[in-house]
Amino acid sequence: MSRLLLINGPNLNLLGSREPQIYGDTPLTRIEAAAASEAAQLGHQLDCFQSNHEGELVERIQAAAADGTALILINAGAYTHTSVALRDALSAVALPFIEVHLSNVYARETFRHRSLLSDLAAGVIVGFGPLGYRLAVIAAHQQLSA
Ligand code: DQA
Repeated sequence: MSRLLLINGPNLNLLGSREPQIYGDTPLTRIEAAAASEAAQLGHQLDCFQSNHEGELVERIQAAAADGTALILINAGAYTHTSVALRDALSAVALPFIEVHLSNVYARETFRHRSLLSDLAAGVIVGFGPLGYRLAVIAAHQQLSA
């Protein structure tokens, strides 16, 4: 059994009502529950955290280094494209992480094409909507078994 941490960044608490034509109509609570259930089936525990605040996200990543987290799944939302602080936090804790995006960021505005996280990630899953989170859990399982 490994402990996995799912982190969602700004505005992802609005999933369900936020731009459903881009992000779908599934609320974050359901996405988290489905990912946790997938993790449990694979014998892992999934902790979930969402914040709209960059500093809180940094602090949760830092805490992961000491709480037994084996791997982080992260959709950093808009901070993906801007936050050196999140990149540095992920780099500092040196835990493997998988980057997830609901939408295909490469089919959207050019400012979304750049991620400050991807080159440090074990892998990146984009464009599959809520399914991407379950795929990320499966990928995490494979990473941890390898
Ligand atoms: C997102 C893509 C980001 O560009 C955007 O700022 C988000 C959501 C996604 O899941 O598709 O908030 O990370």
